[in-house]
Amino acid sequence: MKYNMPLVEGLKEHLAKNRYRFHMPGHKGGNNLAPQIAELLGEKAFKADFTEIEGLDDLHNPQGVIGVAQELAAQCFGAEETFFLVNGATSGIEAALLATCKPGDIVIAPRNVHRSFLSGLILSGARPVYIEVNYSAQGLPLPLSSDQLREKIKDHPETKAAFVVSPTYEGLCINYEELIPVVKEAGVKLIVDEAHGAHFYFSPKFPKPALTSGADVVIHGSHKTIGSLTQTGMLHLADSRDRDGFQKALSMVQSTSPSYLLMASLDGARAHLALEGLELFNNLVELCTNARREINALSAFWCLSQEHLAGLAYDPTKLVIGSATGLTGFQLESVLSAYYIDMEMAALGYVLALVGVGDGEETLKYLVGVLKSIAKSNDLKHNQKQNGLIPYPPLPKALLSPREAYFSSTREVDLRDAEGKIAAELIAPYPPGVPLICPGEVFTAEIVEYIKELYTKGVRWQGPADCTLQKVKIID
Ligand SMILES: Cc1ncc(COP(=O)(O)O)c(C=O)c1O
Repeated sequence: MKYNMPLVEGLKEHLAKNRYRFHMPGHKGGNNLAPQIAELLGEKAFKADFTEIEGLDDLHNPQGVIGVAQELAAQCFGAEETFFLVNGATSGIEAALLATCKPGDIVIAPRNVHRSFLSGLILSGARPVYIEVNYSAQGLPLPLSSDQLREKIKDHPETKAAFVVSPTYEGLCINYEELIPVVKEAGVKLIVDEAHGAHFYFSPKFPKPALTSGADVVIHGSHKTIGSLTQTGMLHLADSRDRDGFQKALSMVQSTSPSYLLMASLDGARAHLALEGLELFNNLVELCTNARREINALSAFWCLSQEHLAGLAYDPTKLVIGSATGLTGFQLESVLSAYYIDMEMAALGYVLALVGVGDGEETLKYLVGVLKSIAKSNDLKHNQKQNGLIPYPPLPKALLSPREAYFSSTREVDLRDAEGKIAAELIAPYPPGVPLICPGEVFTAEIVEYIKELYTKGVRWQGPADCTLQKVKIID
């Protein structure tokens, strides 16, 4: 039991010694703070804000309490090696590409990758081969299928790694029973962005997770669902022989002053869920299943469930809710906002409620109660509009790798003059955040038209320097 939470306990022991702090951070345990910040965060957070001093180990060379905390996390998730992330799943994805690929190596990935995948390509020099995303009838990006991957590997037998996202942001999952044999047979490493699925390891009521299914590298955004602080994550390796390369890569993308508050929150979340996770998540799944049933009983709304997904596994704690009366997801989000509800995300056709370890009966009851009130009120009738989806144009051709594009000189042109030019920046409508064009790819007439059309719909953009998209950056 002594090592149940080694890092948390190490910090508590060190704190109890009440030593003089002639080391960073300069607030020395929270002295001379602005009263407003002390009031907001409380003094304890500052007192526990230590750095790499005797007894508290070093994230970049873990031999003590951090090392043991990472080992316990590895045991908990079924990995041979686990690394703590203090710069989100983002840093894990960047490091995974840096550690796995050399310049010119090919990585196959679906187009709905997170933007950190692009950063990883720029850092490593790897070349992406993208697979177009299919969408469900409700407009949700579907996870990659084994057939799609098999076909691409056939076209690119020299592929080094496959990078997949499962669960997707909306909770849809890959069928690993079919996918794993494809990568094993081809001798391709499987890296899984499981940023949204760290909780899958704590209850059999969730879809089978990546590490248990045979993935080589798995990245968690632990803060998203399992109760650690924002910015925390974990990178897990199925085979510890890859350890040194990953430690080196992570040391490049993570701070040399990692926050002990963040790392302790990972240690605490893991220990808590190792003991309580099964009961906690079983209960949460039941609450979400009931909420889903009640929402689907309202004729004004639908909530994504098995009947919409034709056998595809999904995360029951993601409540994807759409209007059956033509309200867009953006409109539904603003109606819910008036009831003091902030959703995780709104898309054209739906909103997403993320249910995490901190939710319970009360929060879910409130959400369902509000939807019932809205269904009865006039809120729906004021706003009726089409929620039709506009299919993406075909994937553009890439003439430069993301790294080559990143280091090229660039200039701005009017969007209307961009056809045939090589993009120097990512342009992704958000949501869903799936890139229309990435650095190094060539603007087609369809992409230019698509941007113009989405612009009139008030869609937000990720990536471009000019958010009005009157001008775009191209390679000079
Ligand atoms: C699928 C996916 N992967 C990775 C990330 C990056 O995670 P983080 O914000 O923890 O860096 C996100 C962020 O939302 C994501 O949605």
